[in-house]
Amino acid sequence: MNQHSTDQALVPPPSAATTRRAADWWRDAVIYQVYPRSFADSDGDGTGDLEGIRRRLPYLRDLGVDAVWLSPFYASPQADGGYDVADYRAVDSMYGTLLDADAVIRDAHAVGLRIIVDLVPNHSSDQHEWFRRAVAEGPGSPLRDRYHFRAGKGESGELPPNDWESIFGGPAWTRLADGDWYLHLFAPEQPDLNWEHPAVADEFRSILRFWLDMGVDGFRIDVAHGLVKAEGLPDLGGGDQLKLLGNDVMPFFDQDGVHAIYRSWRTVLDEYDGERIFVAEAWTPTVERTANYVRPDELHQAFNFQYLSTAWNAEELRAAIDRSLDAMRPVGAPTTWVLSNHDVTRHATRYANPPGLGTQIRTAGDRELGLRRARAATLLMLALPGSAYIYQGEELGLPDVTDLPDEVRQDPSFFRAQGQDGFRDGCRVPIPWTRTGASYGFGEGGSWLPQPDSWGELSVEAQTGQEGSTLELYRTALAVRRAQAGLGAGDSVTWRDDVPAGLLHFERPGFACTVNTTGTAVRIPAPGTVLLASDPVTVEDGQIELPADRTVWWRTD
Ligand code: NOJ
Ligand code: MG
Repeated sequence: MNQHSTDQALVPPPSAATTRRAADWWRDAVIYQVYPRSFADSDGDGTGDLEGIRRRLPYLRDLGVDAVWLSPFYASPQADGGYDVADYRAVDSMYGTLLDADAVIRDAHAVGLRIIVDLVPNHSSDQHEWFRRAVAEGPGSPLRDRYHFRAGKGESGELPPNDWESIFGGPAWTRLADGDWYLHLFAPEQPDLNWEHPAVADEFRSILRFWLDMGVDGFRIDVAHGLVKAEGLPDLGGGDQLKLLGNDVMPFFDQDGVHAIYRSWRTVLDEYDGERIFVAEAWTPTVERTANYVRPDELHQAFNFQYLSTAWNAEELRAAIDRSLDAMRPVGAPTTWVLSNHDVTRHATRYANPPGLGTQIRTAGDRELGLRRARAATLLMLALPGSAYIYQGEELGLPDVTDLPDEVRQDPSFFRAQGQDGFRDGCRVPIPWTRTGASYGFGEGGSWLPQPDSWGELSVEAQTGQEGSTLELYRTALAVRRAQAGLGAGDSVTWRDDVPAGLLHFERPGFACTVNTTGTAVRIPAPGTVLLASDPVTVEDGQIELPADRTVWWRTD
């Protein structure tokens, strides 16, 4: 009887030569999301920073990812964790300086990693110079045309101009003392820019060039589906207010006009060498509509939130995978896969809870179950063709911190929704690097959100070299994915239908992947030799005993 969890012999060490392929590198890239505030703190002020990231680049290289996406580190009052940008060309002092950004980009390139930065074009901070001047100049100022200022309804303009609600709760309009209202789909500190105004379009093309000249390899576009609002800002008229998924096209989301903006950006990007990319954060009603963002003359990738929202269920996963691949094939863009990010409950905690609770969950659930499923889900994701996104800390199997005290919370929607929503702080708790020490090696001081006492054992130090740890599972999986020459390549998988209910089995050339999403063990014929399993499995007499919630990668040639 053989116990398998990893097969180290098949895994070559990562090297710069393999990490930095040029052409089309992004089509099958594994991209690691860093949330700078919570990654590594070099100066002991309790907040992560760019120098902290720079020092940890070797860790990311050794993990085996291709690129790093940095959430915003620009000058910002932090009303929404930096997604409220006051100066798009400056680094916030809490994160460092432009020189530090330059050092991160250069050092990343030196170790074979690419850097993708976040671009926030839907709204600025209310502290952005444009907005401050627009407010100061008063009603009628042409500077107000760069945003959506309107007179209110009602006898004395005391009612908001339309019935839209902010995604963070409450009306999407705030009234200034001078009587005008302004639109903010998010927090009041995030006024929406008016993309019909030529100065806005010019400014963002210039911002793109600024960071491209700095050497970044691409941009993640925040709220890429929101820039254009329907003519006349029509009322929603009673119906459902916003849900991020499952909406029809809304008068402020997924309007066809956004595509002209991306075609114009693409011409800017294409002036630069080196296969740089755009990835869209576009919450659209369907993955087919998401495909519109990645037509050949627009963006390169778009996050697959439909996949992220799929329950741990074989039938639903298979349908989501097929639909995603089918949607992207006609436009020739790679499908992307993502399970966690800084806006949703970590997948180890989502899967620890019953399905149907959405992507913001307040209960810890069954931790062991959640981790087992999360590991299995990750191996499934990394075996699929296309590009995969990993959110910092998921490689440690971190759960969401569901019991943060209200007084430490920072998510603006927690406050605007009177504590009924806005639990995004739980996935933003700083990373544990060491078993012991101040903030488990996050920094010399504390951490801006408290870390649970149990996190020393989840640290990078505790998991490094530990057989069966989640970190070693990710390292091995990423190395095998690369060594298998292209688990991420192609645009289709071949399913086998003759497997028991609750199992997924698909084949790629020389490779197969089996997933048991059920809560019980299943015995099936082994289709090859085990390359890697999400937790131990046993193979005996050509049969595999596949325990509950487990994924196996097979070599089949
Ligand atoms: C999406 C970002 O990921 C999220 O963190 C932010 O709150 C909103 N966009 C608004 O910028
Ligand atoms: Mg710091």
